[in-house]
Amino acid sequence: MKKILSMLCALACTTGAAHAFDISPFQVGDSLATGEAQAMLQRYATRPSQAWREPDPASIPTGPEGDSIREGIDLMRHTSQRVGNRAPDQNKRFNWNSLNCVNCHQAGPSGLPGTKKYALALVNAVNDYPRFDIKSGKIISLEQRALGMFGAAPVKLTVDMPEFKAIMAYLRWLSAEARPDRAMEGVGLMPMKAIKRAADPIRGKALFISQCASCHGADAQGKRQPDFETGAGYLFPPLAGSDTYDNAGHMFAIPLLARYIRASMPFGTLSDKPQLTPAQALDIAAYINDDAMPRGQNPNRTRLYTDAALRPQGFAIPEHFTGQPEAYHRAKFGPFSNVNEHY
Ligand code: HEC
Ligand code: HEC
Repeated sequence: MKKILSMLCALACTTGAAHAFDISPFQVGDSLATGEAQAMLQRYATRPSQAWREPDPASIPTGPEGDSIREGIDLMRHTSQRVGNRAPDQNKRFNWNSLNCVNCHQAGPSGLPGTKKYALALVNAVNDYPRFDIKSGKIISLEQRALGMFGAAPVKLTVDMPEFKAIMAYLRWLSAEARPDRAMEGVGLMPMKAIKRAADPIRGKALFISQCASCHGADAQGKRQPDFETGAGYLFPPLAGSDTYDNAGHMFAIPLLARYIRASMPFGTLSDKPQLTPAQALDIAAYINDDAMPRGQNPNRTRLYTDAALRPQGFAIPEHFTGQPEAYHRAKFGPFSNVNEHY
């Protein structure tokens, strides 16, 4: 049955207009068996790619649609003040922390959130979903992914709320000119060469102190704005502690964090001119994500990446390595044969 459906779609999809990524014969919410998941990931990875498209803020329309897009931009820039866990309006505390979306989805030359190449750019996000998510083992929609970013917050955000609709309107605008059936260069994370040795948190600490601590603090807890307790958020975001990604977050995987910082840090770094070698980026990521660093603990992490055959390198939790400290260390710090896997 599934085979027939996918054959039908193969016919329809070549004759009709270009569609977003084709998840047929599955639907959002479906769990996939290992083989099905591998085939789907392969299909996703081998989509043809299109060139980066620099978004032009001047092309945001006037009228209600434009207002919604601008509202989405404002929410992603001033997340903490507007909808953070310390936001002045208690009914709007939709986010679990006091970060701004733009702290991670950085701004490029356009000044807009999620438009910096390889700093988790969102310029093709609408066309990259729905897709198979190895972390949950399910096909997820962009809405689900975006909602997930708000975590377990004081007030629950839902898809029918104006704030969420505004963020979606902005994401749609970002991708509006792109070809829906293609991946895009510059989105997600920059590929990087693996190194032969394990990532080393001790070397990483020395590099962190000299290259990162001036902004993020020697303890990596960031620097708060004066009005932090009333929602102002951070001048420099924390990379550790209870107000940033926890020990089940995507950025907790050393290869992922290394690729992110190599393409965009120290602040102002452009991906075509990285300041750090792959070894330095991996060492710094090892220091930041070391278990000795204080970080929020996620009680659900054993329910993530449950299919061991699909688990990316660097996602390592002690629960999977009871009584095997060396195997745990190797899974967490490497050496990694591939640092460019999907997470
Ligand atoms: C601590 C860093 C961090 C913050 C803060 C953050 N994100 Fe993300 N976000 C990520 C990472 C990492 C991914 C990609 C995970 C992956 O590789 O699939 C992601 C993925 C996404 C995606 C899917 C796009 C894609 O390429 O898969 C959307 C949409 C998104 N985030 C929206 C938001 C919004 C809206 C906010 C603010 C409420 C936010 N994010 C805050 C780190 C962050
Ligand atoms: C000159 C100040 C500065 C320096 C130096 C700097 N950063 Fe950042 N970093 C920032 C700012 C500002 C942001 C938030 C970006 C934004 O909001 O546009 C950020 C964001 C980040 C983030 C994503 C946000 C989060 O909370 O996870 C990471 C990771 C990061 N920096 C790591 C590093 C590392 C590692 C170094 C050293 C190699 C470094 N930074 C050096 C200013 C700096």
